[in-house]
Amino acid sequence: MGLPRGSLAPRPLRLKISRRRVGLVILFWFGSWLLLNGLLFIHKTLLSDICTDDRSRRILQRLCEEYRRGILTGNLCHDLCVSRTLEYERCLYYESGKKVMKADWRGVPVVLKSKLENFSSYENFSLLEYQDAPELLPMDIVLYATLEMKNSLGLEVKSSTVPQLWARRLRGRQQKVTRAELASLWSLLQQEEYTFFRVLQDLSQHVVKVLGSCGHFYAVEYLIAGQARMQHLFALEELLELPWGRKGASGRRMVLHIALSFMDMIRHFEDDFTHRLHLCDVKPENFAVRKDLTVVAIDADLAFFEPKMQAILEQNCTSNDDCVFFDCSSRCDVRRHRCGSERINSNLQVICDKIFSYWFPTAYLGGRAGHPLEVKLRHTVQECAMGAGGRAVQERLLRLLTQLLQDSTGTPARGHQHGDTSTGTPAHVERHRANGG
Ligand SMILES: Nc1ncnc2c1ncn2[C@@H]1O[C@H](COP(=O)(O)OP(=O)(O)OP(=O)(O)O)[C@@H](O)[C@H]1O
Ligand SMILES: *[C@@H]1O[C@H](CO)[C@@H](O)[C@H](O)[C@H]1NC(C)=O
Ligand SMILES: *[C@@H]1O[C@H](CO)[C@@H](O)[C@H](O)[C@H]1NC(C)=O
Ligand SMILES: *[C@@H]1O[C@H](CO)[C@@H](O)[C@H](O)[C@H]1NC(C)=O
Repeated sequence: MGLPRGSLAPRPLRLKISRRRVGLVILFWFGSWLLLNGLLFIHKTLLSDICTDDRSRRILQRLCEEYRRGILTGNLCHDLCVSRTLEYERCLYYESGKKVMKADWRGVPVVLKSKLENFSSYENFSLLEYQDAPELLPMDIVLYATLEMKNSLGLEVKSSTVPQLWARRLRGRQQKVTRAELASLWSLLQQEEYTFFRVLQDLSQHVVKVLGSCGHFYAVEYLIAGQARMQHLFALEELLELPWGRKGASGRRMVLHIALSFMDMIRHFEDDFTHRLHLCDVKPENFAVRKDLTVVAIDADLAFFEPKMQAILEQNCTSNDDCVFFDCSSRCDVRRHRCGSERINSNLQVICDKIFSYWFPTAYLGGRAGHPLEVKLRHTVQECAMGAGGRAVQERLLRLLTQLLQDSTGTPARGHQHGDTSTGTPAHVERHRANGG
């Protein structure tokens, strides 16, 4: 008697328990779902006040109104205000005047940006104030623009590249510069970020391309911007849809590609300009990738060349904590009560810490660390994030990433003699199989 009961009883009991547990779990999930949605709703309604289509359209309407009145101009004004081949799509960002919108320009997605929403909020160009102002020639504008850029970037603009590039664009223009042109240029030059992008346009592939402007708004290429919440930080799915991405492309391989582009950018910002370029606000949101997986800086509010960096760091201090400017820091000289002007951490270190360590976390955190190269990479990233090693670490990191990418492609760097890459199986897996594992 006891036997059948004993063997039967546990079953319904177990069922009951698990059912109750399931009920609790469902209730819990439902509760969190409600809470999340509530929070999301509040967030959205708060946000809708500032980043709505309505508001964006009104801003653009005012822009076009001023264009028609001849107050401002730019190469995009006609497309935006007359032919309407530059069409607003959605608002990406708005905060205390700074406006970022997505638009479509003859089938090409672009981003329209301005630091302040109203043209009138920008400073007037003082020379325009005089009624009998001298007629300004294009070369004068180059001079003014150069001085303004120098001021804004904290640079000694050598009589080399930049003015030459500007002059080349202006050459062949016989007519004088109009008030609207001048006022528009002036409003753009007051946006440090525009100046920064504009100056580096022809000098760097790691800086977002400026496509044109209308008044105080300028258009840059639309890219896949980083998002901290995203699994790989960048929306790789969007890239995988591209023709070249379909064949055996894995998220892993793309991450390696992007990491290598970050390494190239780091080296480039360090070596390729007269002054080292410091990135003091490193986070996924401030970088984007092009379709060819080049990493691009899209937010340059806190990017500084060496001279400006030194000026920013030199502050009064009582401890090292006073010498931290976002991601850039120096040491406090406690005798002089003054921060050192030399930055002590580096772009590499911060990117290792804030981006790479997310992709390649220390071994015990992720499950994919079986490959000995991957283990090495993770150690190196950690070392790099702590600021150890300097150039040696940079080189090791570069070597490991390159090797891993080659291995995962299953083709040596020389070229693909295999022909069959369609399986997309990482080489180390194949090798493992061959070993009978
Ligand atoms: N070229 C671009 N392509 C795609 N999205 C972009 C581009 N430029 C900006 N964005 C989006 O707009 C957002 C805000 O732009 P941006 O970073 O310039 O504003 P910000 O005020 O300087 O931001 P932050 O507060 O991070 O400094 C970005 O997080 C990004 O999602
Ligand atoms: C911009 O101009 C509009 C209309 O002139 C005004 O209502 C709005 O407050 C201005 N915005 C800012 C930030 O100055
Ligand atoms: C700028 O110029 C406009 C028109 O030329 C004028 O109405 C305005 O008062 C000026 N603003 C400043 C701050 O000088
Ligand atoms: C920094 O300290 C010096 C004296 O050591 C003082 O003259 C100066 O005003 C201080 N600057 C600031 C910004 O506090």
